[in-house]
Amino acid sequence: MRILLLTHAFNSLTQRLSAELQLRGHEISIEFDIADSVTEEAVTLFRPEIIVAPYLRRAIPESVWSQYRCLIVHPGVVGDRGPSALDWAIQEGASEWGVTVLQAESEMDAGPVWASANFPMRAVKKSSLYRHEVTKAATSAVLLAVERAAGQDFQPQRPCSSQWRPLMRQAERRIDWQLDGSATVLRKMGAADGFPGVADHLFGQDCHLFDAWPESERRGSPGTVIGRRATALLRATTDGAVWIGHVKLGHSIKLPATLAFQDESLTVPELPLAGWWRAAAPTWQDIAYDETGVVGFLHFEFYNGAMSTAQCERLREALAWAKQRPVRILVLMGGADFWSNGIHLNVIEAASLNNGSAADESWRNINAMNDLARDVINTQQQLTVAALGGNTGAGGCFLARAADLVWARDGVMLNPHYKNMGNLYGSEYWTYLLPRRVGEDAALAIMRDRQPLTAQRAVEIGFTDACLSEDSGVFRAEVAQRAADLASDPHFEARLGEKLAARTRDEAVKPLSAYREEELMHMRRNFYGFDPSYHIARHHFVRKSPLSWTPRHLARHRDLGWRIP
Ligand code: COA
Repeated sequence: MRILLLTHAFNSLTQRLSAELQLRGHEISIEFDIADSVTEEAVTLFRPEIIVAPYLRRAIPESVWSQYRCLIVHPGVVGDRGPSALDWAIQEGASEWGVTVLQAESEMDAGPVWASANFPMRAVKKSSLYRHEVTKAATSAVLLAVERAAGQDFQPQRPCSSQWRPLMRQAERRIDWQLDGSATVLRKMGAADGFPGVADHLFGQDCHLFDAWPESERRGSPGTVIGRRATALLRATTDGAVWIGHVKLGHSIKLPATLAFQDESLTVPELPLAGWWRAAAPTWQDIAYDETGVVGFLHFEFYNGAMSTAQCERLREALAWAKQRPVRILVLMGGADFWSNGIHLNVIEAASLNNGSAADESWRNINAMNDLARDVINTQQQLTVAALGGNTGAGGCFLARAADLVWARDGVMLNPHYKNMGNLYGSEYWTYLLPRRVGEDAALAIMRDRQPLTAQRAVEIGFTDACLSEDSGVFRAEVAQRAADLASDPHFEARLGEKLAARTRDEAVKPLSAYREEELMHMRRNFYGFDPSYHIARHHFVRKSPLSWTPRHLARHRDLGWRIP
C-alpha cells in the first residue's frame, strides 16, 4: 500500500514504523503536521491509500479524514480518550496500559478501533515507557491495522464504552513538598518527563523539574535542597529525598540541574560517591560499573543520551579505571533509553546564553567525545563490546562503533549520520570506523541519505555485529551470556592479538590522529566558519521550534520526479 505517515516529528516511533512498513513492501512517504493546507497538499501529491499518524499534537483536518482512511496511534487502552493518556496512566498507577490504533473522525479518539495491544506497566518515567513498551505495542498494532486495512474483511468496531480524560494541567501535577513522600514525587515527575515537566520552585526561582531518581539513605527538611552530585540536586521529601537531574528555568532550555543553578548549587554540600562501582542502594549514579567474573559492565545513564564535555571526561576516567580491572571483556552498556546521542546540544546552547561561546563549547565537546572514542579504540587488554539497549544517534553511533563488537537490542533505532544538525560534518573517527565496516560508497550514502537504521538492518549492512532480543531484560541476559562466552573462548588470546595487530597495521597506513585532524578541519568550519547553519539548527533543536517544512529526504512525494506507480 501507499502509506503517508503524518506526524509531528520524525521521532524514534515514526522511524521504526517507517522502517517496518517498508520492510513489508509498503511505499512510505512522510509529512510533518505543519498546517492543514500542507497536509492537504501532501495527500494531493501522494494520493495515499491510507494515512497513519504515529505522533500528532493536533487533529487531522476534516477535508483529509473524510476522504482518506486515517489511522491514529493513541497511547492508551481501548476506550481511553484524550491528550494526556500516558500521564494519567502513570500518575494514577495503572497496572496495565496499551496502545490503540483508531480511525480519525470528528470527535478526538472516538473512532472505530483497527487494532490494539496492551502491556504491563513499569514504574518508570513517561519517556522511557514511550521508547520501550509503547513503541513495541504501537508497532505491532499498526502492522496489524495496516494488514487489516489492506484486506476487505475486517470491520473495525467502536469500543463498548469510552472515557475522555482532559489535558493534565500543572495543578494536577503539583508536588506538595510538605505532604508528598518520595514515591509520590517520583510518580508525579515520571508522568511529566520529558515534557512538560513539573512546575515548581528551586532556590526561590520558577522552574520545571525533570529526571527524578530515587535516594535511599539521605534525609532533610522536606522541600529543601540538601546536596548535589555532578549534574544533579538532592531535595528532601517527607520520608526521604529524591534527586532532580534536569531543570528548565522560566522560558529557558532544559539543562542539567547544577548547570541551571550554577551559583546556588555551590551553597549545598557535595555528596560524591566513593568510586565507579554501582552503589549498593538506589541513588543518583550516572556512571556505574559492575562485574561478573571476567566481564566488566560500564553503564552511563546520561539523560537523553546527550554527552557534555564534563560527562565525556568523567566517562573517560571511568573507562581508564575499568581497563585496569582484571577482566577480559568490557561491555559499554550506555543507558536504558539511549546509548548515546553525541555532543550535548543543550549544554552547548547554554554556553551562548551565559555570554560564553557556543562554538568554543562545541569544540571542547567534540574533542572530549573524540578522546573517549580514541580510548575505546585503543583498549589493549580487553575486547570491548557496545551493547545498545536504547536508541543511538549521530556521534553516539560512532562512539559505539569504536568498540570491537556492537550488539543492539531489536527495536532500537540507529541514526549514524550528522547532517540533520545544520549539515554538521561529524567526527568521532567516523571516517575511519564507518568505511571499513560498510565500504566507501555505503558510508557516503549513509551520511548523505540520513535514513535511520533498524537494529536488524544495521547488522545486514555490516554496521553492527548482532541484533538480540527486543525485551530489555532478555537483551541484558543475552549480552551477559555472549560476553561470558567470548571471555571463555579458547581463542580469546588469539583474538585479542589479532585486534592489536590490525590496529597497528591501520595506524601505520594512516594514524588515528590524521583522521581526527581531517574531521576536525571540517568541524572547525561548522563551528567557526561564516555559514551559521549548525548554530541555527542547534538553536531550533534545543528550543523545539515548530517545524516549517518536511525535509525532502523524508517527503518523497515532494521529489520532483515522483509519480504514482
Ligand atoms: N543533545 C541534547 N539533547 C538531545 C540530543 C543531544 N545530542 N539528542 C537528543 N536530545 C534530546 C531531545 O531534545 C529530546 O529532548 P526532550 O526530552 O526535551 O524532549 C530528547 O533528547 C529525546 O529526543 P527525541 O528526538 O525525542 O528522541 P528520538 O529517540 O525520537 O530521536 C534522534 C533520536 C537521535 C534522531 C534525535 O534525538 C536527534 O536527532 N538528536 C540530535 C543528534 C545530534 O545531532 N547530535 C549532535 C551531533 S554529534
